[in-house]
Amino acid sequence: MQKRIDLNLQKYIQRRRQMIDRALERWVPGEHEFPPQIHQAMRYSLFAGGKRIRPILTLAAAEAVGGRAVDALPLACSLELIHTYSLIHDDLPAMDNDDLRRGKPTSHKIFGEALAILTGDALLSEAFYLMSRPDLMKKVSSHRRLRAISQVARAAGSLGMVGGQAMDILSQGKGMEKHLLEYIHSHKTGALIAAAVSAGAIVGGASAREYRALNGYGEKLGLAFQIIDDLLDVHGEVRKLGKAVRKDQIQKKATYPAFFGVSDSRRQADCLVQEALAYLKPLNWRANPLREIAQFILTRSN
Ligand code: IPE
Ligand code: IPE
Ligand code: MG
Ligand code: MG
Ligand code: MG
Repeated sequence: MQKRIDLNLQKYIQRRRQMIDRALERWVPGEHEFPPQIHQAMRYSLFAGGKRIRPILTLAAAEAVGGRAVDALPLACSLELIHTYSLIHDDLPAMDNDDLRRGKPTSHKIFGEALAILTGDALLSEAFYLMSRPDLMKKVSSHRRLRAISQVARAAGSLGMVGGQAMDILSQGKGMEKHLLEYIHSHKTGALIAAAVSAGAIVGGASAREYRALNGYGEKLGLAFQIIDDLLDVHGEVRKLGKAVRKDQIQKKATYPAFFGVSDSRRQADCLVQEALAYLKPLNWRANPLREIAQFILTRSN
């Protein structure tokens, strides 16, 4: 039984990835657009083979409340653009100084630091253009669309992801404190994942009750996602992850395994996923993909 569900989820994820990749292909400026170097760099990182978890969550959240995935597609793609920008900047020598990402040399290794910084900037701006393009998402009311954009904007900035990244960098090599560690993880990674879910819910037409449920689910799942990322740095394989491993300890990063140990971190991730699932109780079968994605996040090896 478990196997069958896994297989179905795999197929579901595969189909959704294709849908997202085709849309990104269509909406992101082509390599021939001037200046080609920046568009090449944007596409290099974007199509290097990410899991597409955030846009998949956006589509699944829209559908969980009875909306159509196709109507949330530009929003979903925007989340992937913002995420990809965050990875390019995260890998820069001034930040985590990584050479490998999504199985390929990092953006600054190929294009140089200046262009990698600009590529991140361009992806972030392109995301907001895509979310606000008047010729797309015509079925979504302006009010809902604005609420979704506002949600994503806040999650990406200093009160969300950038705030978390700032504290991640500033905490390196310092004594850690539990609340700060939770702040870092729930902001640098949790905020965008939570926004992917709740913005998807908004464009899908969520009621206040559905919105609260999905918001709670996204927050718990987002924090669990980063704890698992920390654990994969300890136990994972470069071949599967497509990025360096065993680096967090060397760089004295604030991580859950460093603070709580591996088994307690795993237990906390399990608990958070159970809490995420509990939030979905009021939702019907339409939320099943979200339920399965939560389990998948716990058992993922990449
Ligand atoms: C990696 O995110 C960075 C974090 C925020 C933990 P993902 O594990 O979703 O990376 P991709 O998109 O699949 O490359
Ligand atoms: C990255 O966290 C979070 C963001 C990119 C916002 P990490 O630094 O742990 O991500 P990886 O391990 O490099 O993918
Ligand atoms: Mg980092
Ligand atoms: Mg990093
Ligand atoms: Mg990491």
